[in-house]
This record gives sequence, C-alpha cells and structure tokens, in this order.
Amino acid sequence: MASRAPLPPTAFTLPAKYYTDPLLYEREVDMFFRQMWVCVGRMGELEDRGSFFARHIAGDSILIVRTSARGEPDSVRAFHNLCRHRGTQLCRDELGQFKGSIQCEYHAWTYDLEGRLVGAPHMDGSAGFRREDFPLLSVRADVWEGFVYVCLADAGPTLQEQLADLPEKFKPWRMGELRRGDGITYDIATNWKLIIQNFSECLHCPNLHPALNKLSHYMSGENEPLRPTYMGGRMDLNDGVTTMSMDGTCPRQFLPGLSPQDQRRVYYYALFPNLLISAHPDYVMAHTLWPLGPDRTRLVCEWHFHPSEMARPGFTADDVREFWDMTNQQDWRVCEMAQAGISSRAYRPGRYSDREDLLHAFDRFIVEAHGGE
Ligand code: FES
Ligand SMILES: [Fe+2]
Repeated sequence: MASRAPLPPTAFTLPAKYYTDPLLYEREVDMFFRQMWVCVGRMGELEDRGSFFARHIAGDSILIVRTSARGEPDSVRAFHNLCRHRGTQLCRDELGQFKGSIQCEYHAWTYDLEGRLVGAPHMDGSAGFRREDFPLLSVRADVWEGFVYVCLADAGPTLQEQLADLPEKFKPWRMGELRRGDGITYDIATNWKLIIQNFSECLHCPNLHPALNKLSHYMSGENEPLRPTYMGGRMDLNDGVTTMSMDGTCPRQFLPGLSPQDQRRVYYYALFPNLLISAHPDYVMAHTLWPLGPDRTRLVCEWHFHPSEMARPGFTADDVREFWDMTNQQDWRVCEMAQAGISSRAYRPGRYSDREDLLHAFDRFIVEAHGGE
C-alpha cells in the first residue's frame, strides 16, 4: 500500500523491549485485550440457541453463548467460565451446545442462558442466601456483521464506538451474510504487534511474495491515515486478475453489492487489537490474533464466502486456501525472524521509509498507550 506523507528523520523502529519485555507485554494485554473489544469468532459458529464456544482472553476463560433461536436476529451473551458456588470451571469444551441451561458438574448449580442462577441444591434455608445474588459473571458481548466481540471491561466505549466508521465503510461486503468456507490456525513465534505491522505494509511483497505481487502490485492502492482504533488501506488487482487465488482467476460470483471499483480492489484493515480483515471481490479473509506471550502468538485465519456460492455444486475454497496459506507462511517466517533479530542484544532501532508510514504511526500509538514519548 502506498504512502501519504514523508516521515520525519526520527522515524525509527521501536526499542526491543516492546517485543520482548514480559512486563510491557502484560501491560499491553491489559490495555488492549482487557479494556478493548476483542473479536472472538463468527456468529456462524453458533448455530442455535444454547450453542457456545469458549475463548481464553487475557488469562480468563470466557463462554460465548447464543441466546437467540436459529433464524432469529443475532443475540449472544458472554460469561466468565466459573460457577458462583465454589468457583469451579463450568465447561472444558471449546465448542458445544447447552441444552437450555448451564449446569456445574460439581454440585449441580444451574444457570439459564441469560446467566441467572435457577437451581442451587441444598441452598434453601442457608442464611441470607438469594439466588439473584449469584448470577454468572457477565462479560459484555456484541456482534458486528457476524463478527462476535467481547469486552472484559465492564465500562468504557461500546463496540460501535470502537468500530467508529468501519461499519459504514464495510457495508457493501455484507459480511454478516458470509459463511466460513475454510480456516487454518497457526502458532507463530513472534510478538503480536509484528504480525500487525507485517500486515500493514507491502514493501516486502516483491521479495517475499512473488506470486502475490503478480496479482496485485505492491505500489498500487493507498493507505488511510491511522485512526484511533484501526488502520488500513487498499491495493488494486492487476489487469486480467479477478481475485487473489493461486491463478488469479475467480471461479465464484463477486459478492453482491460491490461496486465495479471495489470488484477490482482488496482492502486490508487491521482492527485493533486483534482482527485483520482482507476484503476481496468474492470472499473475506479474517485473521484473529491471540497473544500467548511476548514472543508467541496464535493466529486463526479464516475465509468467508457468500452462502449462495457455497451452495453451488463443486464449490471449493482450495484455490484461496492454497494461495493464502503459502503467503501466510512466507509472512510468519519473516515475523519470526524479525522477533529473533529484535531479541538479539545487538539490535538497535532501524529507520522506516516513507512508505512505512502506517507502521510508524502504529508504533507511536503503542508508545503513547504506554504513556511514553
Ligand atoms: S462449584 Fe459449582 S455447583 Fe459447586
Ligand atoms: Fe506479507
């Protein structure tokens, strides 16, 4: 993606501690993964009332439960995965279906899907005990275009406030209608910020991704300036290319609602703290990032397609999966090598080019979040 403005001579990369220091890492987990809305998955994973998945967010296990019936408007609740009796974890499954209520295995305290305690054996007559004082510990949950979000902080901005003008920007893709066609999970030995930085520049494309560069030239497109909660831009498809896939041809219909202009572009947006959206003419790729330590990140990469295309005989996501798995692995390799080099005692900050403006802006955003200069 192209640059907008020249950078000052002070545009250096960050000191190593931002990628290696455990205390600084913990502070980032708190600032970005406990205080902000975090993308935890897709509504498509929750098919019916009582469907749930569990996520580990910033050290807490959170259950995300669908409370609306199949076909009804999206409605989810999220709870800390622990019983209000003696604190026992309620569920060890990553994915499943509650049958109308959530019951603790230990002494059978039972909660409805709204988290209310509806059964507490042997508690009747216990002095001052009232069921309404012991609901599940609720976590804020919301849905945007099929992306399920939770926020561990009880107060603070709403999801709509965090997303700012993105819902309007991404409206034409109608992402809420899309369904997961395929996905891959990667464990990457790198700091979560290096993945966001790598995602936000394509100067590395000709060298690292020759196949990608044949489909979409690295100097095409344009960045937006960094916003308080996201950054991104677009790249253009080369002449004769109809989507990003192994051979650059698109065997699927374009997503309904896209302008002829957007059918020729790919939009790459990093939504802080953990969702990377790549909106293509015929599919949307979403990466969610899960920091596991200063130098470890789990990344879930998924491709979402229009259901009418998925229903066609012969539908396959293989062309997209193969192309992006190759490209992802090229990226993760250099992210791991960047982490390794930055972790060396010999490392000192290097100089950004004018075409790495978003990275420099992101670094300043991170430093300011830490209260630094
Ligand atoms: S700890 Fe859950 S019912 Fe006792
Ligand atoms: Fe890349």
